[in-house]
Amino acid sequence: MTGQTPLEIDTSKPHPARMYDWYLGGKDNYPVDEEMGRQMLALDPRVPVMARVNRAFMHRATRWLAEHGVRQFLDIGTGIPTEPNLHQIAQEIAPDARVVYCDNDPIVLAHAAALLRGTEDGATEYLQADVRDPDAILDGAKKILDFSRPVALSLVALLHFISDEDGAHALVERLLSELPSGSYLMITHATADFTPVESAAAIEKLKAVGVTLALRSRAEFAGFFQGLDLVEPGIEVPHQWHPELGEPVPGQDDGVIPGYGAVGRKA
Ligand SMILES: C[S@@+](CC[C@H](N)C(=O)[O-])C[C@H]1O[C@@H](n2cnc3c(N)ncnc32)[C@H](O)[C@@H]1O
Repeated sequence: MTGQTPLEIDTSKPHPARMYDWYLGGKDNYPVDEEMGRQMLALDPRVPVMARVNRAFMHRATRWLAEHGVRQFLDIGTGIPTEPNLHQIAQEIAPDARVVYCDNDPIVLAHAAALLRGTEDGATEYLQADVRDPDAILDGAKKILDFSRPVALSLVALLHFISDEDGAHALVERLLSELPSGSYLMITHATADFTPVESAAAIEKLKAVGVTLALRSRAEFAGFFQGLDLVEPGIEVPHQWHPELGEPVPGQDDGVIPGYGAVGRKA
């Protein structure tokens, strides 16, 4: 881990990484996270299914990228380690794959050791940084990844925590600007397109505890891929993106999954 100083874990208010861990059935969360998680469940009982569907998209997209020759990954908004992690999927296909993880939550830093157990041929690294500081992330990533060769930029379930005021689209553009031709972008993102009433209530509840939820429309989601070539089948609800590359998540087809997923290639 580079340049990381221990940071204090704030257990007085819920954090997205710890709520997500709770939805996934993990143990690295606190009563405040569970309490807010339960409030989200009261709005939509399918939230844990959504979390699993999202995680399964990450597995399949990583598999697809590794099978298509990608050997370097920059994963921002990594979350608390949950096996299999991205490097385990990539290195199973390509043991020489190199992965740089990055998150701004100190709880992820506290568990980062689990992300650093890669293969001998490959490499993994963890950066404690905020996506709103893309230059710091690029500087850190360049120490591990070779930016003259393609890199897959993974922003899975991250950008709905970044507001337009913080320039979500410009941040993605800045990160991509340093990556060479043949690089990829993989994103999932929550939307209010299918469940506007529940979504509006979720935004208000999270805002009250200081968490930004910037739900975006299909067109706004597509904007992140401006100038890239979308990999088939294009923009999909996450579980319908290359379902053949993994196992279905129980319950995924029992109702709406209010999100989008896609992978794009830089020409
Ligand atoms: C829902 S989790 C997604 C984890 C993982 N990418 C996945 O899809 O399984 C979102 C993660 O984004 C991180 N995050 C939120 N805002 C961030 C920011 N400004 N910079 C970096 N990471 C951030 C949170 O700490 C959390 O770990």
